[in-house]
Amino acid sequence: MNILLIGSGGREHALALALSKSPLLSQLFVAPGNPGTEAIARNVAIDVTDHGAVIDFCKLMHIDFVVVGPEAPLVAGLVDELAKAGILAFGPTKAAAQLEGSKGFTKDLCRDFNIPTAAYERFTDAAAAKAYIQARGAPIVVKADGLAAGKGVIVATTLDEAIAAIDMIFGGAFGAAGAEVVVEEFLDGEEASFFALCDGERALAFGSAQDHKRVGDRDTGPNTGGMGAYSPAPIMTDAMNAEVMDAFIKPTLAGMKARGAPYRGVLFAGLMIGKNGPKLIEFNARFGDPETQVILPRLDEDLLPLLLECAKGTLRDKPVALSPRAALTVVFAAQGYPDAPQRGSEIRNVEKAASLPDVTVYHAGTKREGDKLLANGGRVLNVTALGQDVAEAQRKAYAAIAEIDWPQGFHRNDIGWRAIAGK
Ligand code: AMP
Ligand code: GLY
Repeated sequence: MNILLIGSGGREHALALALSKSPLLSQLFVAPGNPGTEAIARNVAIDVTDHGAVIDFCKLMHIDFVVVGPEAPLVAGLVDELAKAGILAFGPTKAAAQLEGSKGFTKDLCRDFNIPTAAYERFTDAAAAKAYIQARGAPIVVKADGLAAGKGVIVATTLDEAIAAIDMIFGGAFGAAGAEVVVEEFLDGEEASFFALCDGERALAFGSAQDHKRVGDRDTGPNTGGMGAYSPAPIMTDAMNAEVMDAFIKPTLAGMKARGAPYRGVLFAGLMIGKNGPKLIEFNARFGDPETQVILPRLDEDLLPLLLECAKGTLRDKPVALSPRAALTVVFAAQGYPDAPQRGSEIRNVEKAASLPDVTVYHAGTKREGDKLLANGGRVLNVTALGQDVAEAQRKAYAAIAEIDWPQGFHRNDIGWRAIAGK
């Protein structure tokens, strides 16, 4: 079958690589893709915000299945419009993607279906939000309701910070995404990412991972899209995975069905595991980035039938075959990231790093100019390795990083520290 994959990050390179190995695949297109996907698929320069253009391309190239990587096209209703045009797609409808597109929607769902999460209140008015913050005290968390490119959450350690966050969001810092605010209880604990494949009725666990959000070693500096990850997350034991399926994923599927918006696609639960067990921080309606770059290397079966079953509502009940090996990825970022990444510097020896055993280098913010590979974004490469455990995967990933010649890049030196220290 012919497949169109939407997106251009490291996540999409990892998805493209997994899809390219499927015996069911005829041709793989990626819109817009990156130099990593170009090597294994055909990149096509379609404007994916133009749903009509995506549909025209699908008809022209006889696309049988569209896989949507990022959240924005899901929340914008691309899957709905593809369905109307008779084209099967992996990912939730616009109504179901509200699980990521509206934090208030998700909090209300948690309340109505007894899904453990931080205590919260929704506000459309600054004065009422500030009064609630004054009454609750700090630390407290302030969130823009809608999509804000990962910047809409302020974990305020003081009342002043929380009040300033309210003014910033209602002041229009995130546009329409900040027309409503969720204020919620601060949760303490260890974060983990959990993934479940869903077909509207059923769900299958699809592995766990831990991300590193802060830019600097020892979790210092500003938040980023993620500086590295590993899978599985040691805190996600078999018992914890089962608890998350029962207490979070299944009630969410039941709730979405009851709300008339059955959820199909991958459900990404961001969890805080504290003294009183796991609580939901947020849902995402898509695969994680960089989490996908450590889960897919562990997948010991064909990805494509799994995605098709989600889209068709025919998900099997046999567990997904994930290798017991660990995978770890280190994000190689451009200096200045996350505030002002510098573009245009040349990166050498990526092929040399990628040829090491058990190593894959996923492209994210790169571009080709002639035979040169240039930095073209914040998070530029994801250097990924498999090992018997996180420590071995870490050694291999950093050995691969050492092969790459890119003086204008930087990376954290401690990805995996928590998993390794826990041993
Ligand atoms: P999000 O953009 O929703 O992924 O949130 C970004 C980060 O903010 C999360 O990964 C957490 O580290 C942190 N965060 C969000 N909500 C809370 C909360 N209620 N308590 C503590 N930290 C939180
Ligand atoms: N790595 C976090 C995310 O994909 O949202």
